[in-house]
Amino acid sequence: MPDLHNKRIVLGLSGGIACYKSAELVRRLVEQGATVDVIMTDAATHFITAVTMQALSGRPVFTDAWDPRIPNNMAHIDLSRGADAIIVAPASADFMAKLVQGRADDLLSTLCLARACPLLVAPAMNREMWSAAPTQRNVAQLKQDGVSVLGPAAGDQACGETGDGRMLEPSQLLAELIAFFQPKLLQSKRVLITAGPTIEPIDPVRVLTNRSSGKTGYALAKAAREAGAEVTLVSGPTALPTPHGVLCIQVQTAQQMHDAVLAHVKQQDVFISVAAVADWRIENIATDKIKKDHTTNKSHTPDLKFALNPDILATVAALPNAPWCVGFAAETERLSEFAQAKRVRKGIPMLIGNLAQHVMDADHTTVSIFDEHGEHPLPTSAKQDIARQLIAAIAARLPNKK
Ligand code: CTP
Repeated sequence: MPDLHNKRIVLGLSGGIACYKSAELVRRLVEQGATVDVIMTDAATHFITAVTMQALSGRPVFTDAWDPRIPNNMAHIDLSRGADAIIVAPASADFMAKLVQGRADDLLSTLCLARACPLLVAPAMNREMWSAAPTQRNVAQLKQDGVSVLGPAAGDQACGETGDGRMLEPSQLLAELIAFFQPKLLQSKRVLITAGPTIEPIDPVRVLTNRSSGKTGYALAKAAREAGAEVTLVSGPTALPTPHGVLCIQVQTAQQMHDAVLAHVKQQDVFISVAAVADWRIENIATDKIKKDHTTNKSHTPDLKFALNPDILATVAALPNAPWCVGFAAETERLSEFAQAKRVRKGIPMLIGNLAQHVMDADHTTVSIFDEHGEHPLPTSAKQDIARQLIAAIAARLPNKK
């Protein structure tokens, strides 16, 4: 089921060049199952037309408090009732000032004041306007008033300057909105996650690796962040984008993953070890490319020597003040027996097990939770749904620390 299924979102646009990004945003919201009512200020219609937003939302767009299409002339009430959230993107400096003052001199500001649902704003403006004292005062006041302020990001600006004030990208705003509706089961918790494969060099051009796509680890990082956690992801090489709001540390080898995990493990509440860590590395890595012997034409295979990699999960679980540890195991047979034995051997309270043939690179997966009470199978689902269920299962088991 799409993440915004059954949600009714009011998307407000105030004036700013970032309006062009809101066209993509409305498309992404609709794609995720939301019903989107677009409201534009007069200034916004100078940057993008109502026709564009109507075509993308598939619904009438409102720009005028006196719109005759609303029979009782109560557009500001009708449009906000029944909405799950209002998001103003872009929110200009002027529009945020209006919100702070509680002004209601156009449809969008009136609707925000008359709302009976949460309000989110995505500021977009020049960096000097953003850092100006009145804007910063207004942002602080909006937060105090319970408004969620999303971003802004730093970077190149349409005016040619560089700095804070860019509106978040549509994909980031979408992630924020989806997260907004998720229960905050790990609010203020710190969660460290490993994901992906590791690669072990043989020579400067060859490596040993495995088939892990990283999808499960990345989905868990996203789900933990949605649940309110501060998430650090230590990832081997994958083709996946870093989930919005997650600190991602890229590594290659098991030893690098081990070092990065130990450098970040302090003060973590939870450690989720999803990475398919290579069990062995090559001890005699060649400094130059290993060549075939062309002169003798004899069959020649390289003499590779293996050394055992550190077990990152077992190391973390054995630390004094260890975070609450969760392991993963992909087995090809006797799942229950191997997974439960692995959980006990690694000294961890919870392990997620699956059959390897059900997981590699797929978007759906079938897993079981193993804990001291036994096996708890979850129904086959999309990896993101499974990730949310696992985060809920972790949150439910997490001991209350003082
Ligand atoms: N793991 C780890 N460091 C390693 C190997 C594994 O942190 N060097 C973690 C994995 O991230 C996973 C769990 O340990 O959470 C189980 O990994 P798996 O490869 O299934 O277990 P192994 O202990 O390597 O056992 P085996 O390969 O013999 O099944």
